[in-house]
Amino acid sequence: MDLIIKNARIVDCSQDFIGDIYIEKGIIKEVGLSINIDNIETIDAKGLLVMPSFIDTHAHFREPGLTYKEDIETGSRAALRGGYTGVCLMANTQPICSSKEVLGRVRNREKELGLVDLHQCVSVTKGFNGKDLSHLDDFIEDERLKAISDDGVGVMDSEIMYKAMLKAKEHGWIIMSHAEDKGFSDIDMKIAENIMTLRDIYLAKETGARLHMCHVSTKEAIKYIRDAKKCFSNITCEVTPHHICLTKEVNNYRVNPPIREKEDVNEVVKAIKDGVVDCIGTDHAPHTKEDKEKGSPGMVGLETAFPICYTTLVKSGEISLNKLSEIMSRNGAKILGMNKGRISPGLDGDLVLLDLEKKVVVDSKEFHSKAKNTPFEGKEFYGEVQMTIKSGRVLYKN
Ligand code: DOR
Ligand code: ZN
Repeated sequence: MDLIIKNARIVDCSQDFIGDIYIEKGIIKEVGLSINIDNIETIDAKGLLVMPSFIDTHAHFREPGLTYKEDIETGSRAALRGGYTGVCLMANTQPICSSKEVLGRVRNREKELGLVDLHQCVSVTKGFNGKDLSHLDDFIEDERLKAISDDGVGVMDSEIMYKAMLKAKEHGWIIMSHAEDKGFSDIDMKIAENIMTLRDIYLAKETGARLHMCHVSTKEAIKYIRDAKKCFSNITCEVTPHHICLTKEVNNYRVNPPIREKEDVNEVVKAIKDGVVDCIGTDHAPHTKEDKEKGSPGMVGLETAFPICYTTLVKSGEISLNKLSEIMSRNGAKILGMNKGRISPGLDGDLVLLDLEKKVVVDSKEFHSKAKNTPFEGKEFYGEVQMTIKSGRVLYKN
């Protein structure tokens, strides 16, 4: 699709100016102060901000098997409403994504829909049984597979994690770690996260595997990652919008890892500022009202991520818009190997138009997600997604 966006404030990780963007056949062709081409669809974005669409390194779309909570279509539409065009999906579907069959089903649905580019993780252990790595051999020839994860439960057995990392290293896969030592889950959720963070960093050092730490939430885990990054380049990490803006004293909504204390939040924000945190992962975890009442952890995140991050991090003066773009678009795209994340010729024509002045009052009735489990109902933020463009096509309009 061909498209011109005119008079926008263009912001990505390294630029901020008012100008025009020309997308030809779905790819960004030209970015400049003034681009004029006749007979082409034109959007006048005067007064709006244009950023590269957002990339989510961590979400749960629940298909196959749990589609009463969410499915690939509603998850993708929620992503678009949140300004996202690239999403990495965790493997805790039903069945767990441990087979070519399940992976194929997700990819077929993605292709049929043509909404958002998905990266579906394969589980580290077969069916999350914590032991068996044999299914990984089925994916050796799979050129699209980037990351493996037992997110939702984690890999308890250190020897198994070590062997999984050796395999991941051999085949160029990223290990996405849900760091939780279940032995400590009922005793102290901080210890549960911290001990597994240390273990996985150590194993990544020993094996040389590419390790990505999911939803980092404690000040200690941040410190371990900070120290590790000084020595090795094979470790990245994400934090969630909710771990940036909630403290357990104020809103202890059930999510895993749990909402932490103010000093943890401060350390997470500091780590964003100094580059220890690579990206924002929403951990979009849709559940029904009944499942939440029964104690299922998690919240939906795709449709509130930008206003939360913009308000908490940028409007408050903690970081620049360039930095926000780096952690919401550029670094996630880099980790997942997507041709996105900056506004530059040759990259996918995936953009989001935003109104930063617009007050957003979270109303779950407006969510495109099937699920409404949010602790932010009625809360006020700033920065509304006006339009999401994927390959030059407007796929969401407010
Ligand atoms: O809160 C969470 N919800 N944490 C997880 O690790 C899994 C997720 C889910 O799948 O619901
Ligand atoms: Zn997790």
